[in-house]
Amino acid sequence: MRRAAARLVFFFCLPLFAQTPSTPLVADPPSRTTINLDGTWNSIVDPYESGLSSRYYENAKPKSKSDLVEYDFDRSPKLKVPGDWNTQRDSLLLYEGPMWYQHSFPYTKRANVRTFLYLGAANYFSRVWLNGTKLGEHVGGYTPFNFEVTDQLKDGDNSLVVEVDNTRRPDGVPSTHTDWWNYGGLTRSVKLIEVPETYIQNYFVQLAKGQPSEIAGWVQVEHALPGASVTVEIPELKIKETARLENSGRAEFHFAAHPQLWSPENPKLYQVTISSGGDRITDQIGFRTIETRGTQILLNGKPIFLRGISAHEEAPFRSGSAFSEEDERTLLTWAKELGANFVRLTHYPHNEQEIRLADQMGLMVWEEVPVYWEIQFQNPGVLENAKAQLRDAIMRDQNRASIIIWSLSNETPITTARTDFIHQLADYARSLDSTRLISSASDKWQAVDPQHMALNDPMGEYLDVLGLNEYIGWYGNRKPADADQIQWSFKYQKPVIITEFGGGAPYGLHGDSDTRFTEEYQADLYRHQLNMLSRISALAGMSPWVLMDFRSPRRALPGIQDYFNRKGLISDRGQRKEAFYVLQKYYQEKAGEKP
Ligand code: GCU
Repeated sequence: MRRAAARLVFFFCLPLFAQTPSTPLVADPPSRTTINLDGTWNSIVDPYESGLSSRYYENAKPKSKSDLVEYDFDRSPKLKVPGDWNTQRDSLLLYEGPMWYQHSFPYTKRANVRTFLYLGAANYFSRVWLNGTKLGEHVGGYTPFNFEVTDQLKDGDNSLVVEVDNTRRPDGVPSTHTDWWNYGGLTRSVKLIEVPETYIQNYFVQLAKGQPSEIAGWVQVEHALPGASVTVEIPELKIKETARLENSGRAEFHFAAHPQLWSPENPKLYQVTISSGGDRITDQIGFRTIETRGTQILLNGKPIFLRGISAHEEAPFRSGSAFSEEDERTLLTWAKELGANFVRLTHYPHNEQEIRLADQMGLMVWEEVPVYWEIQFQNPGVLENAKAQLRDAIMRDQNRASIIIWSLSNETPITTARTDFIHQLADYARSLDSTRLISSASDKWQAVDPQHMALNDPMGEYLDVLGLNEYIGWYGNRKPADADQIQWSFKYQKPVIITEFGGGAPYGLHGDSDTRFTEEYQADLYRHQLNMLSRISALAGMSPWVLMDFRSPRRALPGIQDYFNRKGLISDRGQRKEAFYVLQKYYQEKAGEKP
């Protein structure tokens, strides 16, 4: 009892922010020298977190027959990494709490090589030890983090221990309530990244804002020698530019360039090589401009309509947190099949691989940080947490042409603290990347009268694009057909994206279009929605809710939901519902139209 009480007190005073945060994110282009640590890891479920006081991180073995060691990773159950633990063992489906991972791996140290331990994502709070030495902690379930381990690594056998705790917290980002499953674990790849003594930590190479023939950016080099320089090469454009590093190791550059511009129709990527000191990285980068003009969104200077779909990072066919290239390619291929040129990846940064695939496949991307529903907007630590997740998403994906919008939040309440929070996040995002659009999804619209709905959410002031979530015909007392009479107005004359609308239907449930949860009801709702939305003059795009059914703890209707949100146009087994074809037809027509 006393230990449980201590744990509870300990829980509520758990650090909101990582006590020993990870080192600045090391860019991870495919050209890096890496050692993959994925595979089958040892695991210990630890609901009372006794592993901290029992020092599980030492991965100890009894030294004598009378020695007391009350854990043994090698004889403990296994978990696959990457992967959530919830879908790997029935007993863990609903488990929320601390989980210990241990993995042994051989390593050979080499002179003049620095090594980083890079974790693609760990939901939600994690502590990391190497060979018994604590490397640090991380808060946030959907962005990568890394620690330098050059000194902690040993020649020969090494033991890595990671405690991951997906306990939901009132001061979390997201907080305690979400409409998606709280998949816990090492949900994305774990690897070692090897770099030379002087290495390229990160870089930003994109067209200058609104300048289709000027590349601008920066490179950050760590441990550069004074007076050193960096070279940026784009062989296909016969570009080789050199810039001097400041003492901080940073170099900024601007130079003329006339690349083929990246677009969904022509997702052109260029090989870009950056070299400095002994380090050299190569990345595939597309160049495009994205701006707004009045209520239009301009891609490469031309108005564009975003034919989109929202999607969770739920694995098709097997459910669980998606992580493989196959998972991601399946989801994006379905979006393309729908006729989409845009995907709203919700409500958290998805896997880097998915964004790189969107670059290659020609899909524009809305990337969002999990400021979702109610969080502690007045809590400065929560703002720092949200800023850190936003920073890491931008630092990871800033060179991806596909990403056109950074989204700061979804369906948050209209309070002064919230609006101020969003204002600060918007300023921070623009300070890190001034070339992309900033948005957020709001569901705080009002009925001015039965046929006139208005979105006047004050956070619109700080956004480039307004996102609107409306569920006319599903939530509330309006029928799908009521949408035919409805007009929308917006306080801010900015481009509008209908970021969510939709209705639920398990694949194969049929009936008349008035019967809830039938495919006919869902399809009918789509027809009326598309009719209503096409009458919005500021409409620049849409991303209906949702591409594929996904697991949610809030959806308990037996035989219909069974803990899945069934608003997908495709079932979690890949079956297309009637509404899929309604939207596909609309997008085919839209694609033929001049925006
Ligand atoms: C909300 C929310 C989604 C949720 C959806 C739904 O708008 O943004 O996360 O899943 O509605 O109710 O299905």
